Amino acid sequence: MTNKYIYFIANWKMYGDLKSVNSLNKVINFTKKYKKKKFKLIYCPPYTLLESFYKKIKRTKIELGGQNCHFEPSSGPYTGSISPTMLKKTGAKHVILGHSENRNEGETEQQINKKINSSVKCGLKVILCIGETLVQKKKKKTKQILLRQIIKGLYKIKNLNNITIAYEPVWSIGTGVVPSNHELEKNIKTIRNILKKNIKFKRPKVLYGGSVNIKNIRNLARIKDIDGFLIGGASQNAKKFIDIVKKTII
Ligand code: PGA
Repeated sequence: MTNKYIYFIANWKMYGDLKSVNSLNKVINFTKKYKKKKFKLIYCPPYTLLESFYKKIKRTKIELGGQNCHFEPSSGPYTGSISPTMLKKTGAKHVILGHSENRNEGETEQQINKKINSSVKCGLKVILCIGETLVQKKKKKTKQILLRQIIKGLYKIKNLNNITIAYEPVWSIGTGVVPSNHELEKNIKTIRNILKKNIKFKRPKVLYGGSVNIKNIRNLARIKDIDGFLIGGASQNAKKFIDIVKKTII
């Protein structure tokens, strides 16, 4: 692991209700007990729970993030959307963008780039998800895809220090399958090289996401140059999430 802190981002996707806010108690106690350890927890619940989550975590080390946002910075006629400014006002400091589940529903590289631009301007930190599909991997196009997603996503973005990259191979998300250590190390290295050479982003944080769970975390945590994890399914259960963090930092 390279950077000082290890990041654990809980992506709750379209799960959770008001009752699930209480599950944060266990996690808050855990962060107090291990306050000397260098890790950061960021919860990204559905929009409807952001404010309730914020009330719970505002005096703790845990931070809040949105799972997506519109590219219009403040407000506008966009039914069903939420702007970076609105996210910020809930107490969120972060936003996940370019998740494959959104790309899959038609989100374009250009839209992602505009969303990143507005989010950074509004003072949010962006977690940009990138990764190849199984077909692309089989056709040996992984590098080409990563290059395209990085260059198009970060086109003309200033303040690169507000960007964290999450490498999430699409074939790994929600499938229980994770890349081999060798493959993951290779792809993380490729991402770092692209960031350095093509956009002069010298010290990026690069996370891994896709089926991270209590069984595979020890092995994943051994991989060089990963700054943390973006965790979907396993993050919705407080005990599992805490176990994942513990197995990495203790
Ligand atoms: P998963 O999801 O951990 O359930 O595979 C990760 C993600 O989609 O960010």
